[in-house]
Amino acid sequence: MINCIFCSTLASIYVLNFFILTFNIFFILVFSSKFFSYQNSSPNTKNPRIFPKILVNCTIGSMAQACPANHPATSVTGKLSAEACPEYFRWIHEDLRPWKRTGISRFAVESAKGDADFRLVIVNGKAYVEQYKKSFQTRDLFTMWGILQLLKLYPNRLPDLDLMFQCDDRPVIQKRDYRGFRSPPALFRYSKDDLTYDIVFPDWTFWGWAETNVKPWRSILEEIKEGNKRIEWRDRVPYAYWRGSPYVAPTRVDLLKCNVSEREDWNVRLYSQNWEKGSNGGFKNSNLADQCTHRYKIYVEGWGWSVSEKYILACDSMTLLIKPYHHDFFTRSMVPLLHYWPIRPRNKCRDLKFAVEWGNTHPEKAQEIGKAGSNFIHEELKMDFVYDYMFHLLNEYSKLLKFKPAVPPGAVELCLETVDCSADVVLQKFVMESMVTSPSDSAPCSMPPPYSPEALRAFLNKKENLTRQVEMWGDAYWENQKKQL
Ligand SMILES: *[C@@H]1O[C@H](CO)[C@@H](O)[C@H](O)[C@H]1NC(C)=O
Ligand SMILES: *[C@@H]1O[C@H](CO)[C@@H](O)[C@H](O)[C@H]1NC(C)=O
Ligand SMILES: *[C@@H]1O[C@H](CO)[C@@H](O)[C@H](O)[C@H]1NC(C)=O
Repeated sequence: MINCIFCSTLASIYVLNFFILTFNIFFILVFSSKFFSYQNSSPNTKNPRIFPKILVNCTIGSMAQACPANHPATSVTGKLSAEACPEYFRWIHEDLRPWKRTGISRFAVESAKGDADFRLVIVNGKAYVEQYKKSFQTRDLFTMWGILQLLKLYPNRLPDLDLMFQCDDRPVIQKRDYRGFRSPPALFRYSKDDLTYDIVFPDWTFWGWAETNVKPWRSILEEIKEGNKRIEWRDRVPYAYWRGSPYVAPTRVDLLKCNVSEREDWNVRLYSQNWEKGSNGGFKNSNLADQCTHRYKIYVEGWGWSVSEKYILACDSMTLLIKPYHHDFFTRSMVPLLHYWPIRPRNKCRDLKFAVEWGNTHPEKAQEIGKAGSNFIHEELKMDFVYDYMFHLLNEYSKLLKFKPAVPPGAVELCLETVDCSADVVLQKFVMESMVTSPSDSAPCSMPPPYSPEALRAFLNKKENLTRQVEMWGDAYWENQKKQL
């Protein structure tokens, strides 16, 4: 029982509340000191009994636990489809740029081992995993599961590769440590910031987040789409909405100041996620498809980036995006005023109040921004493109490798037969639900070329200018309010 990785899920739901508590205490300690170290922040290695150090040990049903000797049938040609990949795929080139000139040496991979939760090796179309640490919750499992589905979707199309993966929130490969000729370690994770060289990969929630009962992305996207039809934009509550757990980051605590009170109404309605209630009731209260009830939805980062971003943006409401410090793989090509409304972290309440006033006086425009953000998510971030992103990222990464990947002695082969979810109903459900059942009958989309330095600068300038534009409107609004007093 204790050895079964999936058994840890139920236990972890019970201790989730404990984590929230320790997290809060931790957060108070951490933020009262000037500097905080990332390593200490990770709640994942606290209790080895609950989070056993173990490899994937699962079988589907009661089948044998060995991978079949025969290789799955080869699929489609080596071609790419004529369909172009979404614009955000261009950031794959940017993420890999630090190794473009030098290539990725064995040392660059192995020097990331100290930070990695697991190592993934693909040789001759088969995946192998060497696990170093147990990640927080079941993040690592769902990520491995996702990679397995990718192999099933595009059998024999992935090149040999060898990579290190960390499942924690915050990036760790600091640019300042690798100036000059030293090539940085290559480490995959879910998000990064502008000061780090970590390589971003789709997060685990695309296959499901068992601990909070958040279903796989393909299902949830459908549900949100249906949910969006239930309440038209104009019939939605004309305020800004946010629901989540505030005590994970100072910027969220700061947001609480903008909640409606007897003294002040910043047009903001905030709700604390009650984890305890949620976990006992299967998180029914936090059904994401039922949360598209307001005209405006706030996105605010957590301890790192937050997986909530895609669910918020998918709602057809105008997203009020509190400028994040971290980003995931798809948001970098989103544009202010086109897909979302930018909010200054240091001027939250005033900016939020103005955004809602603006939206309610320009309903067509606000609705348009909400719709464009939502379309971006429903079309460009559909599951097919998530797989294509993984496909291209891994391909481009592999092209840079300067050595021939080999299966490490301690690695375990990863295949559907080795994944058993019988110990946990939710996990079993999600894993079955997100399973790719047959190879894709179309080829992956075609990669866009890298940005030229000028094009990249122009794009970032454009975003900067549009953000500045909104800030100026906000300042003028508040100037005007002052005059009227
Ligand atoms: C894997 O799980 C099965 C039962 O689910 C168990 O019998 C077996 O001992 C486990 N293997 C390891 C290596 O823990
Ligand atoms: C925000 O204010 C509303 C109304 O007073 C209240 O119901 C809600 O619990 C508050 N939210 C938080 C996170 O404190
Ligand atoms: C952004 O604004 C600056 C200064 O106002 C201007 O020089 C520049 O051309 C603008 N860039 C874009 C892409 O609009």
